[in-house]
Parts: sequence; C-alpha cells; structure tokens
Amino acid sequence: MNVVAFQGSPRIEGNADILLAETLKGIPESGHEVRLFRLNFMNIKTCQDCGGCEKTGKCVINDDMDEVYDAIRGADRVILASPVFFFALTAQSKAMIDRCQAFWCEKYLLKRSIPGGPVGRRGLLLLVGGMKKEVGVQCGEATAKAFFRTISVPEHETLSFLGVDAKGAILEHPTALRQAYEAGKKLISA
Ligand SMILES: Cc1cc2nc3c(=O)[nH]c(=O)nc-3n(C[C@H](O)[C@H](O)[C@H](O)COP(=O)(O)O)c2cc1C
Repeated sequence: MNVVAFQGSPRIEGNADILLAETLKGIPESGHEVRLFRLNFMNIKTCQDCGGCEKTGKCVINDDMDEVYDAIRGADRVILASPVFFFALTAQSKAMIDRCQAFWCEKYLLKRSIPGGPVGRRGLLLLVGGMKKEVGVQCGEATAKAFFRTISVPEHETLSFLGVDAKGAILEHPTALRQAYEAGKKLISA
C-alpha cells in the first residue's frame, strides 16, 4: 500500500512527531511504501483563491505541493498528525489542506473523484493539544474531515490527546504510544 503521512507541527520530536513515528512503526516495511511530509520544512504557499484550478483541477502555483498532489493521488492511506493551535489545526497543516482546493474543484466541479485502488482509501487523524478543551479537537476534526473527503478518503479514524503540552510530554502518556502503534497496524489491515 502507498501510505502518505503529513506532520503538521513545527516541533521535530514534539508530540505530533512522536505520535506519527509510533503510528508508522505499526506499518511493516515490506509491502508498503511510506512517504512522510514534514510540512513545516516545505515550500507550500497559501491558496490565493485565484480560481485557476476551477476549470482544470490543477493548481497554478508551482512549489512543493506538486509532490504532495502526486502523493495524494497515488495514496491508499493518508495520515495527518497535527497539534491544536488556537483551537484549530496548525497553519502548516492548513496551508497544505487549502491547496487541496484543486482536488475539490476536480471532484465537485469537474465530477472526477480520485479513484480508489484495490484496497480502497482510508485515513487517520492524530491530534494533540496542550489544553483540556475538546473544542480544539472538534474544530481540528471538522477541518480534517473536509480534507479527507475532498481527497476522496471516505472514512478516517481520529486519535486525540489533550493536556499534553511540553515537547515530548506524550511519552509520559499511559496509552498514547500504544494506541498510535495499533492505529498504524489497523490502518493497513484490509
Ligand atoms: C501557537 C500555539 C497555539 C496553541 N493553541 C492551543 C489551543 O488552542 N488548544 C490547545 O489545546 N493547545 C494549544 N497549544 C498547545 C499545543 O497544542 C501543545 O503544546 C502540543 O503538545 C504541541 O504539539 P507538538 O509538540 O507536536 O508541536 C498551542 C501552542 C502554540 C505554540
């Protein structure tokens, strides 16, 4: 299977990064190709709402999204790992998602969904927030759901952890790493 993973935190070895790494450990190397995009370190411009994608389903901006578009098109599984920032996904995650407006146009205006392969397409959302306020998860989940459906991932699972703030604090969580690992295994099971 082709697995595409997005890491939306600016912190390397921060909580989302650790959770995602644990999820990927649950995916055996043989038989699966994993592509990891650390969005903070990519050149992804924000959507300009220029309408350029409306007739073609293709974004007119050429930057690192070119690689992301190709990866999403060929993905069987898509993982998005993001911290909650101001009760939402991070700007890094959101910039990539907004650029998927090109897929939105392709799917809803041009009536061409990304075809699912023989194993279908599924997603996984990993969220971590420093506060214990559910609203951050609800808002992040709503945006992620719109993202997944736009890129023709019809179903996804969400794992969220609140009250996890300091860099690496997720390592102290009693169940998070095991849950992330199990979610990775489940994601690639038929
Ligand atoms: C700019 C910014 C905004 C934040 N806003 C929220 C928030 O609204 N809700 C929340 O639960 N945590 C918030 N946090 C805390 C992060 O979600 C928390 O530290 C998280 O563990 C960071 O994950 P990371 O280590 O993967 O970067 C915020 C942190 C930053 C830097």
